[in-house]
Amino acid sequence: MSITNLFPIPVGWYQHDEGLTESEKKFLLTQDEKPNEGNTTSHYRYLLRDKKLSNLNQWIDECVEKYFDEVYKPKMDVELYTTQSWVNYTKKGQWHHKHRHPNSFVSGVYYVQAEEMKDKIFFFHPKVYHQLRVTPPRDWNLYNSESWWFGVKTGSLVLFPSSLEHWVAPVEADQTRVSLSFNTFLKGYVGDDDSLTGLHLGGDATPKNMLKPKKEPGPGKAGGVDSKKMETVDIDSL
Ligand SMILES: [Fe+2]
Repeated sequence: MSITNLFPIPVGWYQHDEGLTESEKKFLLTQDEKPNEGNTTSHYRYLLRDKKLSNLNQWIDECVEKYFDEVYKPKMDVELYTTQSWVNYTKKGQWHHKHRHPNSFVSGVYYVQAEEMKDKIFFFHPKVYHQLRVTPPRDWNLYNSESWWFGVKTGSLVLFPSSLEHWVAPVEADQTRVSLSFNTFLKGYVGDDDSLTGLHLGGDATPKNMLKPKKEPGPGKAGGVDSKKMETVDIDSL
């Protein structure tokens, strides 16, 4: 007998053997934070475009390129580029709500600080397909499970389709789990003119100026700025 794993979901794993430098790690660990559902997240949402992370950005680009080529094997001139990127801080007992990443093709998470054997990421089956729920199974496997978790460690990178739902269960590790998440989109030629599906996507050229939210004033601080007000920041000065 043989069983074919038909139409599987590609979840890619990479390990950053080189690791982060002390200054890269410090930069990622000390971003201004704001509340998220279950944890906190960085104000800054274009971190991978910052010159301070150019080495990490290059390594992530190479991983994304390998993943895209291996999974999609594009015939035409098309590639993925990272769009937004931000840091998540999840302390012991905190979690990261169940979500997908809209307006993105492939998403990724790079683990800046994670404890092997304790920190995990959960993915959910994209379809409720159990017409009859034959439970409890003797063993859980990729066919009879509606969710699946993977252990993560510092320097791991996971890439997955942005439509794949995921979450982080309450963190068990003592140290704060710090992860850099990012989205990607297509740049180049997709589809096919003959079948009337052709699209020429110009991509999001690195903007000369980016919008970065001003730091929110602390409680009771007189004359604080309006947190909704945005200021223009020259990327070269970041
Ligand atoms: Fe996510």
